[in-house]
Amino acid sequence: MRVAELPGDGVAAFLDGWLVADEFEVHFVATRPERQRRGLAAMLLDHLLAEVFAEGARSAVLEVRRDNAPAQGLYRSRGFEVVAERRRYYDDGEDALVMRCALEGSLLAARRAVYGGR
Ligand SMILES: CC(C)(COP(=O)(O)OP(=O)(O)OC[C@H]1O[C@@H](n2cnc3c(N)ncnc32)[C@H](O)[C@@H]1OP(=O)(O)O)[C@@H](O)C(=O)NCCC(=O)NCCS
Repeated sequence: MRVAELPGDGVAAFLDGWLVADEFEVHFVATRPERQRRGLAAMLLDHLLAEVFAEGARSAVLEVRRDNAPAQGLYRSRGFEVVAERRRYYDDGEDALVMRCALEGSLLAARRAVYGGR
């Protein structure tokens, strides 16, 4: 798990997932509502993907609710694309989109450098 903490303000965002063979599965990412749209989730994702790439991951995959536009926007902004859909995947009957991203070392390093000071 990766956590973004702001001085005096506790945890602002976190990201969780695990590495299975050469694929990293993103399980959950969230940013406190009042801290959203400041690049925190993107920063956590870029840092973690760079780390798991160094550990041997060559792709990342996740499921996201079809109606979750903010999360899809985040994932698209980091290079994820929809590769499949799972009908009625969630308990409430909503569909999931499967999104996948090929990991490429130099791009991850560049992104990490951009976010390094944040
Ligand atoms: C999805 C979520 C984690 C994004 O967190 P965040 O810290 O606000 O995201 P960032 O500021 O790093 O955004 C990075 C990019 O993602 C996209 N994005 C983020 N929020 C978006 C929104 N509401 N609508 C469209 N695109 C969005 C944008 O491309 C954004 O870049 P920009 O701000 O330069 O345009 C946050 O909205 C959240 O916590 N949602 C509730 C929990 C959730 O649904 N998690 C995902 C399912 S596991």
